[in-house]
Amino acid sequence: MRKILVAGNWKMHGSKAMVDALTRGVLEGVESTPAVDLAVFPPNLFLGQVQALAEGTRLNWGAQTLNPHAEGAFTGEVSAAMLRDFGCRYVLVGHSERRSLFGESDADVAARFEAAVAAGLEPVLCLGETLEEREAGATEAVVARQLDAVIERVGAAGFAQATLAYEPVWAIGTGLTASPEQAQAVHAFLRNKLVALDGTIGGQTRILYGGSVKPANAADLFAQEDIDGALVGGASLTAEDFVGICRGAS
Ligand code: 13P
Repeated sequence: MRKILVAGNWKMHGSKAMVDALTRGVLEGVESTPAVDLAVFPPNLFLGQVQALAEGTRLNWGAQTLNPHAEGAFTGEVSAAMLRDFGCRYVLVGHSERRSLFGESDADVAARFEAAVAAGLEPVLCLGETLEEREAGATEAVVARQLDAVIERVGAAGFAQATLAYEPVWAIGTGLTASPEQAQAVHAFLRNKLVALDGTIGGQTRILYGGSVKPANAADLFAQEDIDGALVGGASLTAEDFVGICRGAS
């Protein structure tokens, strides 16, 4: 059985005061939710603050991206080892905003995934098609290409401690959610690809859905066979909504 993972991607939001209140609010709120796994992805500046508040609790944390190099003259960047030093368990790789706004190619994403695994972080590989690609019937081809680039780099073994997050670009921040059936179809497609590679790993890898997840639609999404949790953007910025999404797992 794959346990539900509810993960909050805070993107470039927050302040010290907000991070304090939100983290405390989540920790308090999840005391009365089902036993889901939990993670938050604050901006890097706040990782130490979240670590101080969440260490020893059910709440895990991670970063929104990483640089694939171990160290060196890479101004502005943060390595996998630095994230480990701040207690990160997870790291997002290949979020659509990184791909579209910061030019990360499939190969760049694969390199980041590999660096994360090598450092003992659990990468959360984000995949998803644009509206144009969906309307052209290219959804499966796009997510297959995105996944294959990583498989080619790390093989099946690289997925032993990894998570996938299917995030259709047209559903991110738009209020448009993929229907549970639409999401399930892509999740099953992705799982079948992993199963073809390695039955055990394919069966155990969590595949999260992301794109306008809210308390009102979480339960229907989580009821789908291959939807193992959510990667939440906007609704993860209030403890009440994040906790409400966790309740969808009951
Ligand atoms: P929203 O939940 O705001 O649509 O964002 C989804 C997302 O991009 C999470 O990584």
